[in-house]
Amino acid sequence: MTKRISIAIDGPAAAGKSTIAKMVAKNLNYTYIDTGAMYRCVAYYALLKHVDVHDEQAVDKLLKDIDIQMYPDGTIQLNHEDVTSAIRENEVSMGASVVSQYAAVRAFLVDKQREMAQGGGVILDGRDIGTVVLKDAELKIYQIASIECRAMRRHQENMQRGIESDLNEIQKEIALRDQQDMNRRISPLRKADDAIEIDTSDMTLEEVVSKVMQLVEQRI
Ligand code: DC
Repeated sequence: MTKRISIAIDGPAAAGKSTIAKMVAKNLNYTYIDTGAMYRCVAYYALLKHVDVHDEQAVDKLLKDIDIQMYPDGTIQLNHEDVTSAIRENEVSMGASVVSQYAAVRAFLVDKQREMAQGGGVILDGRDIGTVVLKDAELKIYQIASIECRAMRRHQENMQRGIESDLNEIQKEIALRDQQDMNRRISPLRKADDAIEIDTSDMTLEEVVSKVMQLVEQRI
């Protein structure tokens, strides 16, 4: 039997990590865990409860009331409510980047992520998977793309989904999130020393998946 490894994919916002992770997970019959969605759930809950995401103590107090369930078909439930689409809203993205700076929020979610990843056969994407959550992952990818490219991809995705979209706004928001995610005190986004960097700016989805699959095969 082939070994079921753990795969970490980190990188900046809108670099296409989840698209690649989902495709690779499908090829390998692995479980895909979208850790960004978990930070989004915390931000969404704060917004729902009219708690200022910048108020760390108030956000910390909400954690005991947060129950996140993630299903293999990609559905995400927060306290038994389906929030799969709601957590993709812009306000939630920006809020997630803010609440992810808090130690208690990170500790709460990292524990959950490690629990879900137990036993291998998993692929997690996020900002701190290779550096913190799964330091021993057999394969670590650091997926990047130019900011112009990331903004354009997100813009096209929005238009396809029929969501109103402004390319300049998207680019500004992505830049701000990167800045926050890379400069926070706890677990900032950075490439793990043993991660393999893939710049997807000039690559097709298929090319990226095939590159990742090659790297997986070397390890199983
Ligand atoms: O991957 P995403 O865009 O859905 O993530 C939303 C925010 O959550 C991101 O701006 C930073 C935070 N995040 C994090 O701090 N650590 C992770 N492992 C995943 C996401």
